[in-house]
Amino acid sequence: MIELDRATKVFPGTAAPAVDALTLDVPAGEIVVLVGPSGCGKTTTLKMINRIVEPTGGTIRVDGVDVRRQEPHVLRRNIGYVIQQVGLFPHRTIARNIATVPRLLGWDADRTTARVDELMVTMGLDPDMGARYPSELSGGQRQRVGVARALAADPPVLLMDEPFGAVDPIVRGRLQGELLDLQARLRKTIVFVTHDIDEALRLGDRIAILNVGGRLEQYATPEEILREPATPFVEEFLGGERGLRRLALRTVGDLGDLGIGNCVQADATVEEAKRRAAESGERWIGILDGDRLRGWAWVSDLDGSRHAGDVDTTLFRVALSVDATLREAIDGLVRSRVGVAVVLGEDQRYEGMVTLDRLAQAIVS
Ligand SMILES: Nc1ncnc2c1ncn2[C@@H]1O[C@H](COP(=O)(O)OP(=O)(O)OP(=O)(O)O)[C@@H](O)[C@H]1O
Ligand SMILES: [Mg+2]
Repeated sequence: MIELDRATKVFPGTAAPAVDALTLDVPAGEIVVLVGPSGCGKTTTLKMINRIVEPTGGTIRVDGVDVRRQEPHVLRRNIGYVIQQVGLFPHRTIARNIATVPRLLGWDADRTTARVDELMVTMGLDPDMGARYPSELSGGQRQRVGVARALAADPPVLLMDEPFGAVDPIVRGRLQGELLDLQARLRKTIVFVTHDIDEALRLGDRIAILNVGGRLEQYATPEEILREPATPFVEEFLGGERGLRRLALRTVGDLGDLGIGNCVQADATVEEAKRRAAESGERWIGILDGDRLRGWAWVSDLDGSRHAGDVDTTLFRVALSVDATLREAIDGLVRSRVGVAVVLGEDQRYEGMVTLDRLAQAIVS
C-alpha cells in the first residue's frame, strides 16, 4: 500500500540527510511501527509520505501511485494524519476540529455532524465535549480527538506520529487497546511512530527499527525481532527482558487446553484428592464445584474428612482471563502462594491452571 524506495530527505542547509535512502513496504491493512531514537527521521519519513516534506531523492508510492504525481491536497484527503503533540486547532471547538477534512471535502452539515458524533462515540468521547475547546480537555482526551480527526473522512491510510506520547501509562494502555479494536474492524493501513518499544511490540504487525539518518536496522514482526535482533543496535534498543517481552506477545489462550489442573470436585473422596495432589507433585489441592473453582486446601488438612469439599478453602489470589498474556501469567505464578495461575473464562468459569512447566514448554516450542 505504501512503498518507500530509497526515500531520501536532505533539509536545505544541512549536510547529513535526515533520511537516507530508506526502503520500506507497508502492506495494506497492517500496522507498521517506526521506532528509533530522537532525531532519527521518523517524523520526516511520515511527512514525506503525505508530502508535507518533499523528498529530495527516491520514490514513494501510495496505492501504486508516485506521490509526486498527486496533488498534495488530494493526497492528504486519503491519508489521515495524527500530528506529533496532537496539533489540534486551539481556536476551533472539538467538533470543528474533527470535521476539518469533511469540511474541506465539502460535505453537507448534516453528514458532517453525524460523522463527528459517530467518531466521538467510537473514540469514547462524550458528544457533549464537541462544543468545548482543546484547552478544556485532558491530554488523553485531546489525543483521542486527534485520532478522530484523522479518521473523519475514512481514509484508507493513517499516519500516526506518537499519538499516545503525552499520556500516562494507564491511559496509554487503554488507547492502545482501543486502536487495536478499531483496527480489527477498519483494517486501515497505518504507519505509527513511537519511542516506546513496548508500544511498538504491542501494536505493530511489523516494526521498522531506525537508526540516525533513517537507516533501517531491522524490519520484521515483533516475534522475529525479539527472537533474532539483526544488529547490536537493535539488541540494545530492545533493552533487557527480551524473553519476557516475547511472552507478552502470546496469550494464555494460545496454550490450548489446560486440562483440569491440580483439582478435584468437592464430592471427591479425600483419597482421590490426595492421589491427585501426589500425581501433580503438590501439597495442596484445588476444589471445584462443577465448573466453579472454590479455592484450595493443604492436603494435610484433609485428614479426618470424607470428602475433599468438607474442609475450608483459601481463595486463589490471582485469576487470569484467556486473553491475558503469558507475561501476565508469569506474574500471576510468582504472586500465587501455590505457584500456579488460575485461568477463568466467561462467567468466571474455571478453565484450568498455568504452571511453570506448562510455560516452559510454551517458551521452548
Ligand atoms: N525543517 C527542518 N530543517 C532542518 N532539519 C530538520 C528539519 N526537520 C527536521 N530536521 C532534522 O532532521 C532530523 C530528523 O528529524 P525528525 O523530526 O524526523 O526526527 P524524529 O525521529 O521524528 O525525532 P523525535 O523522536 O524527536 O520526534 C533531525 O536531525 C532534525 O533536526
Ligand atoms: Mg518526531
